[in-house]
Amino acid sequence: MAILPILKYPDPRLRLASSPIVDFDEALATLAEDLRQTMIHAPGSGLAAPQVDRQVRLIVVDNTQEDEEYGHNVLTLVNPRVVELIGEQLHLEGCLSVIELQAEVRRAAAVTVEAQDLQGQPFTFQAQGRQAVILQHEIDHLDGVLFLDRLSRLKREMYRKKLRKNQKMSQNT
Ligand code: NI
Repeated sequence: MAILPILKYPDPRLRLASSPIVDFDEALATLAEDLRQTMIHAPGSGLAAPQVDRQVRLIVVDNTQEDEEYGHNVLTLVNPRVVELIGEQLHLEGCLSVIELQAEVRRAAAVTVEAQDLQGQPFTFQAQGRQAVILQHEIDHLDGVLFLDRLSRLKREMYRKKLRKNQKMSQNT
């Protein structure tokens, strides 16, 4: 069990496409547990394997229900695939790999995702609202896509400028 370091934008490794998982072995179970621990430690609402520099199609998603404490209900999805998108919503997003930025992103209001569990058993998962956002966000990571890419060019440029300015300031001190 380990807390893994999370890659930060603009690290080019966040842009790599991840490979499908074919071996449902002990190594996969360990990585999934590390990913879960790392997400809870952050804390975050979701985390994708490429964010911890493992370019495989594995994500974990917070599934806390109203009567539960955060961290006790985390979904693990292997080879997740969006098979249906319904409607539209605007939701505030952030990302553990994109520091100091929260912005509203337009995405589908509801999703159906097909995935496998850690034993390779296929299952279908439906979500709406915040959880639909998290699923779409994490699955994007598997294709090297960040929520930043879904903002307007202006907003993206403003963020890049802010990041450069902060880096300069920290170099000067
Ligand atoms: Ni993210």
